[in-house]
Amino acid sequence: MIPQPFNLKIEDGKFILNVETKIFAPDDLIAVSQYLKTFIKLPTGFDLQDTQTKSEQNSINLELDDTLKGLNPEGYELRITPKLVLLRAPQPAGIFYGIQTLRQLLPAEIESQTKVQGLEWDIHCLIIEDSPRFKWRGLMFDSGRHFFSVDVIKKYLDLLALLKMNTFHWHLTEDQGWRIEIKKYPKLTEIGSKREDSRIGGWISKKTRGEPHEGFYTQDEIREVIQYAEERFIRVIPEIDVPGHSSAAIAAYPELSCTKEEINVPTKFGIFEDIYCAGHDFTYEFMENVLDEVLSLFPSEIIHIGGDEVPKKNWKKCEVCKKKMKDENLRNLDELHDYFTERISKYIVSKGRRVIGWNEILDEKTDKNTIGQHWLLTGKKQVRKHLEKGGDIVVSNMFRYYLDYSYIMTPLRKTYKFEPISRTVKTENQQQILGIESPIWTEWVPNTERLDWQVLPRLVAVAETGWTQKRLKNFKNFRKRIENFEERLNSLEFQSASFKEANPGNLKRLFFLARAFKWPAI
Ligand code: ACM
Ligand code: ZN
Repeated sequence: MIPQPFNLKIEDGKFILNVETKIFAPDDLIAVSQYLKTFIKLPTGFDLQDTQTKSEQNSINLELDDTLKGLNPEGYELRITPKLVLLRAPQPAGIFYGIQTLRQLLPAEIESQTKVQGLEWDIHCLIIEDSPRFKWRGLMFDSGRHFFSVDVIKKYLDLLALLKMNTFHWHLTEDQGWRIEIKKYPKLTEIGSKREDSRIGGWISKKTRGEPHEGFYTQDEIREVIQYAEERFIRVIPEIDVPGHSSAAIAAYPELSCTKEEINVPTKFGIFEDIYCAGHDFTYEFMENVLDEVLSLFPSEIIHIGGDEVPKKNWKKCEVCKKKMKDENLRNLDELHDYFTERISKYIVSKGRRVIGWNEILDEKTDKNTIGQHWLLTGKKQVRKHLEKGGDIVVSNMFRYYLDYSYIMTPLRKTYKFEPISRTVKTENQQQILGIESPIWTEWVPNTERLDWQVLPRLVAVAETGWTQKRLKNFKNFRKRIENFEERLNSLEFQSASFKEANPGNLKRLFFLARAFKWPAI
């Protein structure tokens, strides 16, 4: 079972799921009960019926019970006896996670996409009490560098559900592609979602694919994804990255930049100097209009404004930016970035939402309610200060959690063994480490084969860190469990890297390491 549950006691006997098994669920749990029935039906062929009264025989009973002590809001208690499956939780989310556990207790064939004949669907008797260590357990998905269809996004939401993860951070705007339909600015997708070509082969390669790349999500598709995620207790946090990583928007609307020069959507990857002008009113008007549509689409309380990798060369030369600095008494370009961040943040907060950004946005003046996402090792000081002020942090350490890194650079064990609460975090600030998030950046991830291979099995290790208590984590034991888990991933048609590929020995790593930084592994 992955993630390893909090408390597990094996009992004698087994429960056998068959065509006669009933499901009891109160009104508040109709949706999760339906989810359970749907995933049982395909591989087993059983069309499980509801029972209106709590049954004592051959039944799966789902119950909400807020007296369950010691469980946080996402926790659950699961009891399997020869007669009953009894799943109780304080909230529907817990029932949902209990169902994910039940799923892993059934034979791996339960994941089959076709009907399986002649198999006994038994579950060993046990008692599990379980609840997550962290309340933020996320995947960041870069749809900007390469576009992935709604079906792929849904498949990944299903994966997050299986792993008991609850946050899908959707990176929707990038230099190489603007991927979200904004009705007020149609050129963002007419122009900004298309590029002529793509660099291939890694950071120092000059090769190109020799074909265009394009794609964006319509607002209806975005709603569909959010709905699908909600049914799986996953919140979708949109990222509109500002002021950097915005070449595609500038290609669509050159007036957004300092130079106002026309540019093409880049076909290379890296850090670009074309960023939003921080002086011009149009930038802020544009951002507010874009955010209005984003906020009306996404119910998430938390909105991501990026803020990473901002080269300020154009700001330095720009008369409008210089005037803004003078008018606002800003002493340097970093303060201009702070001003920009603060202005956008205030707008989001005025709409009743909360801001998250990459650790570069953190400074003395950052509102304590803003969340910092710690990715850069050099961000440690800013992060410490934010914690001291009472601010919250999500941990995304690049050398441990970046799923696009090669396995040479970041083998599975390195990801697994990473402890998100570093020793330097004071006890009184530990609660402010909300949790963890792993990004999959897609510069060198052009298709789902590559995507699956980079993400899996490393995301499984991340999920266990997000859920399982530190003292219960053990890599050797994880290794044993992941073998069974891989069978499930295969049935779900994920092309995971094998354990051996994902966990190369140190000798092999030494050999490749110099070439491996952010490269596709060989
Ligand atoms: C990042 O990797 N630029 C957040
Ligand atoms: Zn400017």
